[in-house]
Amino acid sequence: MTARRVRRRRRERARRQVSKVSRTPVKHYVRRRGWVEAAKSRQGRLGGSYLQVLTLCGEDALDVLLFAREGLIRRDARGFPDVSWCEWSAETAARLRMRLGRVRRSFLGSLEQLALGGDFDDWFPFDVVNLDFTALPFPRSQPPFNSTWKAIQAILRGQRSHGRGFELFLTFNATREPANEAAIRQLIEVVEQNFGIRPWSEQAFLAGSGSQSPNELSVQAYDKFLLVCLPKFIARLATDEQFVVKGLERFSYKRRPPWGATYSIVKFVLSLDPLPSPALRINVPPRHEIASQSYDELVRSSFESPGVDVDQVLQYEPGLRQSLGDEVASLLQEVPPMGA
Ligand SMILES: C[S@@+](CC[C@H](N)C(=O)[O-])C[C@H]1O[C@@H](n2cnc3c(N)ncnc32)[C@H](O)[C@@H]1O
Repeated sequence: MTARRVRRRRRERARRQVSKVSRTPVKHYVRRRGWVEAAKSRQGRLGGSYLQVLTLCGEDALDVLLFAREGLIRRDARGFPDVSWCEWSAETAARLRMRLGRVRRSFLGSLEQLALGGDFDDWFPFDVVNLDFTALPFPRSQPPFNSTWKAIQAILRGQRSHGRGFELFLTFNATREPANEAAIRQLIEVVEQNFGIRPWSEQAFLAGSGSQSPNELSVQAYDKFLLVCLPKFIARLATDEQFVVKGLERFSYKRRPPWGATYSIVKFVLSLDPLPSPALRINVPPRHEIASQSYDELVRSSFESPGVDVDQVLQYEPGLRQSLGDEVASLLQEVPPMGA
């Protein structure tokens, strides 16, 4: 077999696997309890208007279909006018076009290319940005502040230029082995520095990690390490771009591929709002106080617990598992828009 055919087969196998995993109850639990809840709360704050969404929605686009069913975005005869999507696989993009029909914008290529390329400014603003990555947050082949984090920074900048708060959903593969050790060391250092500046945060961390140090946790349970430590890093990035993190939910579950070892998926649901303009009113606290108070709250809640273990929840709720599976099946039955 030629190298090209091998690559194509490998890509096809990965595509089928992503689609299969997207249909599982654990994943749908996060769509329902994490994404829809956060999006509804944003919609409520916007007075009930439809949301503008940027998503890596894959070929089934289950997030888009669910959002439309929940009245969060519009669906008309030709497609989904509030949705913008980005997809790096040409096969997946072709299927996605069939499923969603006309959308606000679409891009065939990586999110990193889109965000760090020329005309991304025209895509803004959004109310929900769903970066459902299938990759590691810190791959060994790239520097710690890699192109994915630069793309997230570009999204924050785009939103800031419109003064627009938004819900940010991030998903990562939490496999430790091919990770960038320098990035992990930097995360550990930042957390340990925090212990010096905010002594209460060490107690919170030890409570959440089962008395393990940041380094021990990174070795013993890398998924928990990311769930506990990454929010602080993201909040820092957000604050640098004049945003404050107002809400945080975290979820994790295991993936057991037919080939290779079991690994964890970690998911973050963040609610971000711009810091108020300086001295807009005299009776509001200064921006640095607002930022530092929210930052402390975020550090406390993320250190104290690694969030929801979805496998564990569904293990004890077979009825919920069944109804999540039924909803996925019914979303997949939806008829694509005309002309798609
Ligand atoms: C996990 S699936 C999306 C599932 C969907 N959000 C849902 O709710 O079912 C992620 C999709 O994004 C694509 N993808 C992953 N990382 C990407 C990146 N950095 N740039 C562009 N596309 C990406 C994958 O090919 C895949 O089709």
